[in-house]
Amino acid sequence: MAFSELFLQELAERNDIVDVVSSYVQLTKRSGSNLFGLCPFHSEKTPSFSVAPDKQIYHCFGCGKGGSVIGFIMEIENLSFPDAVAFLARRAGMAIPEQEDDPNAKKRERMLSLNREAARFFYEQLKAPSGAPAREYLQRRQLSGRTATNFGLGFAPDAWHSLTDAMKAKGFTERELFDAGLVRNRNGNVYDTFRNRLMFPVIDVRGNVIGFSGRILGDGEPKYMNSPETIVFSKSHNLFGLNLAKKSKMGFIILVEGNVDVASLHQAGFDCAVASLGTSLTPEQARLLSRYTNEIVIAYDGDNAGQKAAQRAIGLLEKLDMRVRVLRMEGAKDPDEYIKNFGADAFRNLLEGSENHIEYRLQSVQQKYDLKVDEQKVSYVKEAAGVIAQLPGSVEREVYAMRVAEQAGIPNTAVLDEIKRQRKNKLRTAQRELTRDQLRPIRQQEKRSGVRYENPHSAAAEEGVIRLLYLDSALFHSVQPPKPEQFSSPELRHIFTVLLEHAEQKRPVSLAALGETLSTQELQILTRIIQQDDASDRREQALADYINILSTDSLASEQTDLRAYAEKLKERKGYGGTK
Ligand code: GTP
Ligand code: MN
Repeated sequence: MAFSELFLQELAERNDIVDVVSSYVQLTKRSGSNLFGLCPFHSEKTPSFSVAPDKQIYHCFGCGKGGSVIGFIMEIENLSFPDAVAFLARRAGMAIPEQEDDPNAKKRERMLSLNREAARFFYEQLKAPSGAPAREYLQRRQLSGRTATNFGLGFAPDAWHSLTDAMKAKGFTERELFDAGLVRNRNGNVYDTFRNRLMFPVIDVRGNVIGFSGRILGDGEPKYMNSPETIVFSKSHNLFGLNLAKKSKMGFIILVEGNVDVASLHQAGFDCAVASLGTSLTPEQARLLSRYTNEIVIAYDGDNAGQKAAQRAIGLLEKLDMRVRVLRMEGAKDPDEYIKNFGADAFRNLLEGSENHIEYRLQSVQQKYDLKVDEQKVSYVKEAAGVIAQLPGSVEREVYAMRVAEQAGIPNTAVLDEIKRQRKNKLRTAQRELTRDQLRPIRQQEKRSGVRYENPHSAAAEEGVIRLLYLDSALFHSVQPPKPEQFSSPELRHIFTVLLEHAEQKRPVSLAALGETLSTQELQILTRIIQQDDASDRREQALADYINILSTDSLASEQTDLRAYAEKLKERKGYGGTK
């Protein structure tokens, strides 16, 4: 999708970078005109993340990330460029330019805005006097008002047409409500699908309300009602809570069965919990998860169905090379109950202890093989040894080795030897990974500056020209601008060309509007360049100096080239001469 620069510019103007960033980062320090806070993109103790309100950019002096407000949303919300644009458009209440050629896109947009309005309606109903039963229910489940707000929980009133009436008043048709699954139609009688239920909006990773899940208040059937599949909602492709969990700093994602489990885990500080939407985990959901983490902790219900579902999920996740751990919750049927019974700290201990849930894993390995068949017995021992090899303690390893040996009916030493062999292999891999980790800072350093200059001498001048061209293009109307060839890296050359074009056509320029013209790397470089201080009182002089340096430098390099050429010629001549 291509957006016009005009649109992108307006989008950036209506989403002030300080406002947007402030809802993610506390900007606690001020230095000159810049605000500083702790960088959300790398961990640090002293603030090196800066926002420049005048230039409407952010830049981290620690990790080198930077860009416009659109870039910030792409990075922090994990969104593509068009999705980040849509996100900000929604935030500012702007319509996204229509794509007339795609009627489906229009329909989707319309359904999404209906869903959003419906969510807002349910949310208001929860706060209204008539929402008392739902509020009491939340209280009984020990879910706080903050949690309700965090998830946008709502209440569908105990009435046949309350949502229908409210949405019609907003200009939506019955047909649209029907397509979104918000009303049902029996013999021409249209009535609200969700009545007298606690409403969980399902929000996708882009922040769209794509559907709803409604829980009955108290006991009754069906306990949950979900939106049907629509053009914007597919249960098998989404997870409840991933819109929040994708921002978690915990480093893994906890997979649970129920919506209430998700809410109560988040409330207890485990902001990385998600639930598959009533189905058992699908391959699409597994793939979606793998975009945000490589480690999953499964905390399904303790019953048979839950454990079977866990087995299936493990298979799917391991296929995607994800690390999977399983929680076994003794004394509670699900995470929500566990936290109520034993507290958040106990759950945290469980999470930490689940690291090598060895019994569970050995059991799952064993279930795969028929130990009466010799060949399978061998495979079983090999795989079980692999699990045991990960245990750090030698006593523990011996205990479990004995158990495996007993089950397979072979001597202990055979199992222990296999474990030793596998540990050696693992050690070797670990060492390789270590070296790679040590190399990483160096690579990052190279990446941070973004450019490798062929001619470092002129680097400051090249960047200076670009900075002035961005900040004050009028300066260029009265001077002869440098040539693109005078820039020593392809990125700078491209940035310069694009900026010069804008200046020549007297078109205003902003980082946000360049989001589609420049590459991510180029945007990063440009951000780094424009956030540097410029001597704003003597810009004309500075520009003259930069241009001067550039021309002498390229002259010098031409001369070097000539000299080298001459040397070569001489050599060749000399060579020919002796012959
Ligand atoms: P409570 O703790 O009992 O409030 O529910 P929960 O959110 O922990 O859910 P539970 O463990 O009972 O069920 C797990 C998930 O299965 C729910 O979040 C729903 O997505 C789904 N589910 C449960 N009951 C029903 C039902 O009656 N109909 C449908 N469609 N889905 C259900
Ligand atoms: Mn539950």
